[in-house]
Amino acid sequence: MDEIAKLMIDQLKDAHSAEKQALRGMAKMLKNASSQALKDCIQSHIAQTEKQVERVEQALEMVGGKPGRKVCEAMKGLIEEAQNEMSENDKGPIMDVLIIAAAQRIEHYEIAAYGTMVTLAKAAGENKLADLLGKTLAEEKDTDGKLSQVAESEVNPAFISHARGEDEEDEEPANENRRGGRRRSA
Ligand SMILES: [Fe+2]
Repeated sequence: MDEIAKLMIDQLKDAHSAEKQALRGMAKMLKNASSQALKDCIQSHIAQTEKQVERVEQALEMVGGKPGRKVCEAMKGLIEEAQNEMSENDKGPIMDVLIIAAAQRIEHYEIAAYGTMVTLAKAAGENKLADLLGKTLAEEKDTDGKLSQVAESEVNPAFISHARGEDEEDEEPANENRRGGRRRSA
């Protein structure tokens, strides 16, 4: 087997492990999300990711490889971090912000991985392989953009107003000097 194929197989095995772990991570995110727009986004990317796993398997076949037991340690770390944050918070506005933060970290990792593979496949003249992986790359970028949209339109404003609402509950109603006065001095 030539060196290019060997390297490509290694990259693809890593991506295969990454996608499978991402599927499990997204299932947990879906359970913990409150925003309907966020849930829809995760749900549709779960469906996309199932196809992406198949694409990686197809790509491996094209270069003469098999998925194997390789574990993507980077994705493992990203998922662990997401799980820790989810377990430390209750469902609601903060949780939704944390889920988007974690999901976008995952998407960015995947964009980097597929970006490299597509570029490499093109350089080797493997255009079919580049096209196949390019589809996944486009989906990862699209998902990242959708997550940004959900953050901007819904999740961040909900979190900000929730956080500010809690601040206001802390203030004494009679205290007009919000910025200056400590409660003790009122
Ligand atoms: Fe993804």
